[in-house]
Amino acid sequence: MNNNWLRGINSTVIHTGEVPDPITGAVVPPIYQTTTFAFPSNETMWDLMEGRGGGFIYTRYGNPNYGMVEAKLAALEEAESALVLASGMAATSTAILASAKAGDHIVSHADIYGGNFGLFYELLPKVGMETSFVDATDVEEVEAAIHPNTTIIFIESPSNPTLRVCDLGAIAQIAHARGIRLIVDNTFATPYNQRPLTLGADVVVHSGTKYLNGHSDVMAGAIVGSTAIIADAVQVFRKLGGNLNAIDAWLWNRGMKTFGLRMARHNQNGQAVAEFLASHPRVDRVHYPGLPDHPQHALAQRQMRGFGGVLAVELRGGQAEVNAVLNRVRLFTRAVSLGSVESLITQPVAAVHHNVPEQYRRLGGITSNLIRIAVGIEDIEDIVADLDQALSRE
Ligand SMILES: Cc1ncc(COP(=O)(O)O)c(C=O)c1O
Repeated sequence: MNNNWLRGINSTVIHTGEVPDPITGAVVPPIYQTTTFAFPSNETMWDLMEGRGGGFIYTRYGNPNYGMVEAKLAALEEAESALVLASGMAATSTAILASAKAGDHIVSHADIYGGNFGLFYELLPKVGMETSFVDATDVEEVEAAIHPNTTIIFIESPSNPTLRVCDLGAIAQIAHARGIRLIVDNTFATPYNQRPLTLGADVVVHSGTKYLNGHSDVMAGAIVGSTAIIADAVQVFRKLGGNLNAIDAWLWNRGMKTFGLRMARHNQNGQAVAEFLASHPRVDRVHYPGLPDHPQHALAQRQMRGFGGVLAVELRGGQAEVNAVLNRVRLFTRAVSLGSVESLITQPVAAVHHNVPEQYRRLGGITSNLIRIAVGIEDIEDIVADLDQALSRE
């Protein structure tokens, strides 16, 4: 079904990629829980393997449940194409290996998801790719870090966990002037709040595990970009084998249908919690792009339409105070991850950024009194009351 006439986010996520089941007419698509697909003839087998005609071969090469989510993601990011994978890490590693080779250099920043940091810092050097970590909020630092062999700039904006905002348009210009590919991890913002491809990025990667699915029940990832970029990524993906399960793709497609509603609520709740904590006596500093004192607030207002549900909060005190607050929460769950309907709370240096070396933690502002709050879509009064009682000294 051609849904190109849809404009609104809610209509897009409900209708794009949806086709009533051709055999039964079922409105909700079936789960194609199969590894392999029958060929009507041996000639079609030749055609499909040589890229002629539509059809399915083997689930690692494609599955009808993938296409529904891919169509939605491409529409949301205003892209030609999308590829779903088994996790955000599968998406990032596949996008990098599709864009660079041994001997290439990457520019990124230290305040990125700990798994992404580990990929750049530990794994990629083993295959001959080196990364320079800079303060990417400073466009001149990004430019100064470029070497003749730089082929990728990798940016997370807002960044995990410190919610720093990078100027995607300015960095895209620097990249393109030198033939460098700009890859943006848009997990924190989501296409509801920011569309990096429209600002000049070449590739967007996502952890679908977060807001896009939104229910903490599916591990998933995506690469979004031009048809040519996705075609290259598909070749790498088929060899690395990071494919999504059909049932997870089906669950993700269902989760996506409330994406717009959930994001509107995450934005509202995130802003309200940030404002509440900003004036709390036990809080030293709140990092949230929606607050006027955020260093890149003006840029965030230009580049984003909302600021999401994640905030980083520096508590007054040390580990004892952090333990006290995390151990007192009742509505919040102490758990890693973010972007789900339920509110989660964690200490980055204890969990997600545990393995980031001290020098890079310092560069990324990942202090030990920092807690990361992923605000869910519960009633704001209950969220604020829980944080208030967890922060009280009693
Ligand atoms: C910004 C960001 N990118 C990528 C990932 C990795 O995604 P996944 O856990 O789905 O592999 C995460 C996970 O927390 C993340 O926060």
